[in-house]
Amino acid sequence: MEKITIQGRKLIMLFQEYKLKNTNLRNRVVMAPMTRNQSPGGVPTDDVISYYSRRAKAEVGMIITEGIEVSHKASSAYPNVPRLDSDDAQEGWKKVVAGIKSHDGAVIAQLWHCGGFRKLGMQPNPDVPGHTASGLVKPGKKVAHEMTLEDIKETIDAYASDAKICEQLGFDGVEIHGAHGYLIDNFLWEGTNIRQDLYGGSIDKRSQFVSDIIKAVRDNVSEKFIVGLRFSQWKQHDFEAKLATTPEHLKKILLPPVEAGLDYLHSSMRRFWESEFTDSEENLAFWTKKISNIPTIGVGSVGLDSDFIDMTAPATPTSIDKAIEDISNQKYDMIAVGRALLSDHEWVLKMKEGRLEDVIPYTKDALMNLY
Ligand SMILES: Cc1cc2nc3c(=O)[nH]c(=O)nc-3n(C[C@H](O)[C@H](O)[C@H](O)COP(=O)(O)O)c2cc1C
Repeated sequence: MEKITIQGRKLIMLFQEYKLKNTNLRNRVVMAPMTRNQSPGGVPTDDVISYYSRRAKAEVGMIITEGIEVSHKASSAYPNVPRLDSDDAQEGWKKVVAGIKSHDGAVIAQLWHCGGFRKLGMQPNPDVPGHTASGLVKPGKKVAHEMTLEDIKETIDAYASDAKICEQLGFDGVEIHGAHGYLIDNFLWEGTNIRQDLYGGSIDKRSQFVSDIIKAVRDNVSEKFIVGLRFSQWKQHDFEAKLATTPEHLKKILLPPVEAGLDYLHSSMRRFWESEFTDSEENLAFWTKKISNIPTIGVGSVGLDSDFIDMTAPATPTSIDKAIEDISNQKYDMIAVGRALLSDHEWVLKMKEGRLEDVIPYTKDALMNLY
């Protein structure tokens, strides 16, 4: 196949419109969800509102918000993360949505439960320990609370009612954060889910929790509202871990949530150019789309020369020809961009115009401010 370059931009599908369910996106570039810890009391500030708005103005196709703590007593593990369970927080999010929409952007709220990353003493409920599938925070380390069926029901209900709030606030959809070792991933992974009931044991039972969440969310929002799921192989505390070692294995994990009513899947990789399974050069996003046959986002070091595991390490802007080719070949449908959009809110415009040399390199300074 002829190589598509930035210069041949008229042909570049990545920068052309895409319809995700009923929502028209001006291009297929998605801002990856990134926690900024700058919403004191769970309330997005005016700086947070301008930060998202600035990126919508600079033509990001769809913005996925930073993880928003789902309204459950054990969801939180980090300071100053936004929430939805106060009038002020909802008012803040309403303004975030309005800012993005005023620039014709689309916006998805990422709903996040930190699971075993929570420790006793953490706010807003210091007496509440981390909650996990089997009390395990990693294989063999049982220091969290093993969720009862009642806890599970309470948590599912929290996702469903938060999703409804998000729809009322004007979001185009929600993304369920099922990646990186947090609560849902803790249920999905055999290393941390050794339950013997309907939520654990065999591989299909480990998907039951996320499938129930998606069903409950779907039942509580309108048909046009987008419901997505982010998942990953790697965990925040184990970069080499794998949920699935073969495509067949991945299929068993992904199909139950897809059938529960998902509109897209978001495959979180560290380096999107790496192959996922032996005997194939294709990455996790490719396999995700092939297996699920639903719209798929790929993420992981797009436009940068190194991955994000050490967030403080600098990273140099690079060509995105490989991402452009993957999208043109419909290996998956959208790409998400994280750090490159933190350091340079005009990344989309510059890449679209082939101005790689103008892109601001990523350094840890980008983490310190909300510009
Ligand atoms: C500062 C920062 C905060 C992040 N917070 C979240 C988050 O809240 N939810 C999530 O799913 N991923 C989070 N991630 C992971 C990113 O969404 C993305 O997958 C990762 O940065 C890789 O993309 P990149 O190489 O383009 O930066 C975060 C990453 C960074 C750098």
